[in-house]
Amino acid sequence: MHISFEHVSYTYQPNSPFEHKALNDMTFSIESGSFVAVIGHTGSGKSTLIQHLNGLLQPTEGKIHLGDYTIEAGVKNKHLRELRENVGVVFQYPEHQLFEETVAKDIAFGPQNFGVPQEEIERRTKAAVKATKLPEDLLDRSPFDLSGGQMRRVAISGVLAMDPKVLVLDEPTAGLDPSGQKEVMDMFYDLHHEKGLTTILVTHSMEDALAYADYILIMNHGELYKEGTPLDIFRQKEDLEQVQLDVPEVIAFLSKAEKEYGINLEYKGQTIAELAKELARKVRGGSDHE
Ligand SMILES: Nc1ncnc2c1ncn2[C@@H]1O[C@H](COP(=O)(O)OP(=O)(O)OP(=O)(O)O)[C@@H](O)[C@H]1O
Ligand SMILES: [Mg+2]
Repeated sequence: MHISFEHVSYTYQPNSPFEHKALNDMTFSIESGSFVAVIGHTGSGKSTLIQHLNGLLQPTEGKIHLGDYTIEAGVKNKHLRELRENVGVVFQYPEHQLFEETVAKDIAFGPQNFGVPQEEIERRTKAAVKATKLPEDLLDRSPFDLSGGQMRRVAISGVLAMDPKVLVLDEPTAGLDPSGQKEVMDMFYDLHHEKGLTTILVTHSMEDALAYADYILIMNHGELYKEGTPLDIFRQKEDLEQVQLDVPEVIAFLSKAEKEYGINLEYKGQTIAELAKELARKVRGGSDHE
């Protein structure tokens, strides 16, 4: 689903002493089928931005296009239901929103609300627990008896069971251990490709933005600071430092090789160790063919 923001601003609690402009004149597009990472320091407006994607927040100014739907400031949103069927959002700590007696009921809650037939719900539930690697025998258990990591997977399964076209992820790996983080990110990456989803990932991990995204939006104080491909973005070390963001280690290595040895290494997802070998070979003046 193609998504575009046209001069979108959002103000929390307008005309009150707590008034706060969290988005300011944001204009950008997200190609259908792309994997976009939204990065930016704490409080820069990332969560506010993504809550516009399923109509949870409505712009104070400007317009948003999502496929054929338009959400416009000051105009009643008539497509909320369709929008929520198409755009699945995994909020920060989604396990806090579990509430049903059993895992199966929790996963089925969304599709049931949208009138999906029982048989189809069962099919989707099976597919969702398979994707999130939850054992099927957990389906009859209470979600509150599970580990934190499993509860997270139940919550994610509930979003997947809606069969969305757009998947919005707000720091989906926060609080998981490193192996759990990688598993969850790899799962989203596989789903993105298998289902041809449009995926929008809010993350504080520059390594994840580099590894998974094909486009990056950087936010700063409610504004779009920069956008581009991960390699473009992460080569601008000074500009990133201006907004308190780091460069992934591998990219820092590439930049150093260029600065200190005048050698341009092509980045194709190598590890630092692999890049170091390539560099050593080139510094020695050897060719790439050994
Ligand atoms: N309900 C609210 N009422 C008033 N201000 C709010 C509200 N929610 C968020 N804000 C403010 O809006 C700004 C943007 O917040 P937002 O949660 O979108 O940032 P974020 O980039 O997601 O931050 P983080 O990385 O910490 O999750 C912050 O200054 C925040 O304090
Ligand atoms: Mg946030």
